Amino acid sequence: MDKYNIINIPHPTLKATAQPVAMVTDDVRQQMDRMLQTMYDASGIGLAANQVNLLNRVFVMDMAPREGGDPRPIFVVNPEIIWRSEEFSVMEEGCLSIPGQYAEVERPASVRLIYLDYHGQPAELLAEGAMAHCVQHELDHLNGVLFIDHISKLKRDMIVRKIEKLRKLGEIL
Ligand code: NI
Repeated sequence: MDKYNIINIPHPTLKATAQPVAMVTDDVRQQMDRMLQTMYDASGIGLAANQVNLLNRVFVMDMAPREGGDPRPIFVVNPEIIWRSEEFSVMEEGCLSIPGQYAEVERPASVRLIYLDYHGQPAELLAEGAMAHCVQHELDHLNGVLFIDHISKLKRDMIVRKIEKLRKLGEIL
């Protein structure tokens, strides 16, 4: 299966809003399969359509440990958060489109998500802990928002400069 190329900041698609999927067709399923493979190959836990330069509301994730454990992929189409906890959680986040950079991000500690699954069936997920961060991070991507948009300008500018430097050195695309 052909992998996708993952785009990095400041590619404009990462700032764009993805459009709802009208129907989960075989083409959408093939896109999700390719996205999952691309994510596994990059050792990520989540990947949104924007990151492979597509603008439909699709993301994939797998929080299961890679080594030894069985894969537990989750395919998400047209996600919507219908509930957020009042408690917040701070966790370090990274992003395959901002390679090698990490920062602490504060988000609601738990969220309830509704979406369409791989077969186009309505599904619901209560995400807590690291999964809550992942779900909100990936949904943000579909709205053109990155984890660095949740941190101070000072830290954000630092990360953006590091990425520029890595690109000049030819270490990232
Ligand atoms: Ni990301």
